[in-house]
Amino acid sequence: AAPPRHYTIGFSQCTTGDAWRQAMLAGMRKELSFYPNVTFRLKDARDNSNRQQQQIQEFLKEGIDLLIVSANEAEPVTPVVEEAFNRGIPVVILDRRIASKLYTAYVGGNNLEIGQAAGRYIGSLLAGRGNVLEIEGLAGASPAVDRHRGLANALAAYPGLHLVARVQGDWKRPSVITRLPAVLRAHPEVNVIFAHNDRMALGAYQVCKQLGLDRRIRVVGVDGLPGLHGGIQFVQDGVLTATLLYPPGGEEAIRTAMNILEHRPYAKENILGTMVIDSTNVLTMKMQTEQLSSQQQDIQRQQRLLQQQRDTYASQQTVLYVLAGA
Ligand code: FRU
Repeated sequence: AAPPRHYTIGFSQCTTGDAWRQAMLAGMRKELSFYPNVTFRLKDARDNSNRQQQQIQEFLKEGIDLLIVSANEAEPVTPVVEEAFNRGIPVVILDRRIASKLYTAYVGGNNLEIGQAAGRYIGSLLAGRGNVLEIEGLAGASPAVDRHRGLANALAAYPGLHLVARVQGDWKRPSVITRLPAVLRAHPEVNVIFAHNDRMALGAYQVCKQLGLDRRIRVVGVDGLPGLHGGIQFVQDGVLTATLLYPPGGEEAIRTAMNILEHRPYAKENILGTMVIDSTNVLTMKMQTEQLSSQQQDIQRQQRLLQQQRDTYASQQTVLYVLAGA
């Protein structure tokens, strides 16, 4: 058979500076290891939409066969992604959407549903009565917009529940540490904080603790990463009451990209599921993720061994070749 064609995939990532993005990248690299015919190039916009625009322009100049984008903010990044799409470059949107339908496929969670699930969970936690404070991700990033809309929708079904304050957290813990104390002092009636990710939720918990409110205010986050500093551990430690799972989708993004490039069938919308992780299921989740990661390590060990054997074989071939030539 003919050797597979070579492809270059450009990945425009809004940021690489957090554990969730690192898990996404690890998933991508894992899946990419099955495709030696692919060159994978990453550009990190470091939370800056202008830089992301420029970097996508660079990709277009350098030449790529497919673009994967996680848009820092939807609006400013949209025109250049549309330009790529209109030039015939397939576009896979990963996690953070653009403000346009001009893309080939989307991979990621349903953030409207995540906000709604959080709202319903808080509704039952407070038995339908109480006050909620929301800490939002970067304004203009699609998950922040959708998580807020979802939460507001769900809370509207409970006449006794009120969204009393919203804090801009920009996805980052330090913003929460700076801005939350004043808002909490102005709103002593808050019972539950919903933060758009677990890093901001951790910041909220730390502020509550500092103000002596950690026993009265419960905190709900999003992401539910495994590992020592992930949301699953925070729930187990009682730092968070719950977190909504938000899978990073790295493997799925590469799989979708390869289906597109190699002309196999694919879906335009690839929605990854969510679930509430709280004290009732956190141990099961923890055990499952630990098992997965140990299997993953086994696979990597096997791959390293295989590579060593290939290297040994290659050097033996060289020796034979040299001997034969002598
Ligand atoms: C990581 C992150 C996650 C969040 C996602 C939303 O950069 O902030 O914590 O769920 O982005 O796009």
